[in-house]
Amino acid sequence: MNILLLGSGGREHALAWKLKQSSRCSKLYIAPGNAGTALYGTNIALKLNDFDSIRAFCLEHNIDILLPGGEDTLVNGIYDFIKGDDALKHIIVAGPSKEGAQLEGSKAYAKEFMMRHNIPTAAYREFDLQSFDEGLAYLEQHSTPIVLKADGLAAGKGVVITESREEAKAVFTDMLKEARFGEAGRKVVIEQFLSGVEVSVFVMTNGSSYILFPEAKDYKRIGEGDKGLNTGGMGAVSPVPFYTGDFAARVEERIIKPTVRGLQAENITYNGFIFFGLINVDGDPFVIEYNCRMGDPETEVVMPRLKGDLVEMIEDMAAGSFKASYDPGGNIDPRCACTVMMVSGGYPEQYENGKAITGLDAVEGSIVFHAGTRQDDGRVLTNGGRVLAVTSYGDTIGEALERSYENIAGIDFDKKYFRTDIGYEFK
Ligand code: AMP
Ligand code: GLY
Repeated sequence: MNILLLGSGGREHALAWKLKQSSRCSKLYIAPGNAGTALYGTNIALKLNDFDSIRAFCLEHNIDILLPGGEDTLVNGIYDFIKGDDALKHIIVAGPSKEGAQLEGSKAYAKEFMMRHNIPTAAYREFDLQSFDEGLAYLEQHSTPIVLKADGLAAGKGVVITESREEAKAVFTDMLKEARFGEAGRKVVIEQFLSGVEVSVFVMTNGSSYILFPEAKDYKRIGEGDKGLNTGGMGAVSPVPFYTGDFAARVEERIIKPTVRGLQAENITYNGFIFFGLINVDGDPFVIEYNCRMGDPETEVVMPRLKGDLVEMIEDMAAGSFKASYDPGGNIDPRCACTVMMVSGGYPEQYENGKAITGLDAVEGSIVFHAGTRQDDGRVLTNGGRVLAVTSYGDTIGEALERSYENIAGIDFDKKYFRTDIGYEFK
């Protein structure tokens, strides 16, 4: 199988690492990739939303599987583009159709889907410019805190949680009247604030059956103790100690199964990952968000715990039936995997690129997934806010983290920063 993987982050490095372990993987191309993905395949310069160039590349290099790492390309309809083209339609696209990707692409769409299928989520209303005054009145009687979400893709920045109604009204006005999130904010979802611990749950589905991947918890805030600005993710652990027994069973019965049955009942073509962003409210799971792709940095702990052959899983998904051996007991490594992100000082605000990274060769007992790096004359340079995800296995979360922190001590670049408290609740 010749595979084209789209993206350039830690998630894509972890996917490339896993795909390359398969005897079914022939050529692996990563577009655009980073210094880490280059160890497993060939990086190529393709723009992720330039479908015509992707088409030409697939034809020239006999691509069999296309795996878009991120949501943009999926929400923009790469699946339908490939399947609608006679010369390309044999290619397996590991991702949903444009319609299926709306589960992530539109918060309002996702909310309506959950309502139709009775899937637990925060109570909400949606508003646009025409219903602006109604929205203000709704906020007037809403309990605080209040969660406001721009409807469309906003690169992880479209959610604002406000402590007061006044602040909520200001944000709401900004979103709708001042187009703070551009096109993405033309509709706004206002929802109830849910209090609990979050967990990320992943399945691979063909729209009628699914296989469970390991769950994970990521740490989104920049500062220790979950303080400060939101980031793409500063670290992750898997498994998540409270994701067992009753809670895990509730997630499957109340959320995963109704979601997959809903896709099937509505004839929504879906051949890919669903990432359920969940919150545990006193033992009951609620959906915070759906994503139509794997998470980052969750993938950097999920792939190391996945035992089976990812290429075979993707082929089976496309063929319409998963093997019994993909049940979690056979497919998930019982060891813990944890990752700690090393980021550029200043991230998630201003930071500088192009700093030389040293110490990578001395790493022992951890896997370093590159996020924002590039190669330059044999050197590896920083090339993004999130730079490296240092993943380790351990019998306990604490042991895995200790290994990652030992290796991080030996890796250096100007203004490196990382959180020292990843997994703090579970150690
Ligand atoms: P999202 O961009 O949808 O991932 O939301 C970003 C973050 O906002 C989530 O990871 C949660 O921490 C938080 N969040 C979103 N919706 C809610 C909610 N209804 N109640 C509490 N926190 C929320
Ligand atoms: N780590 C959260 C995400 O990938 O959206």
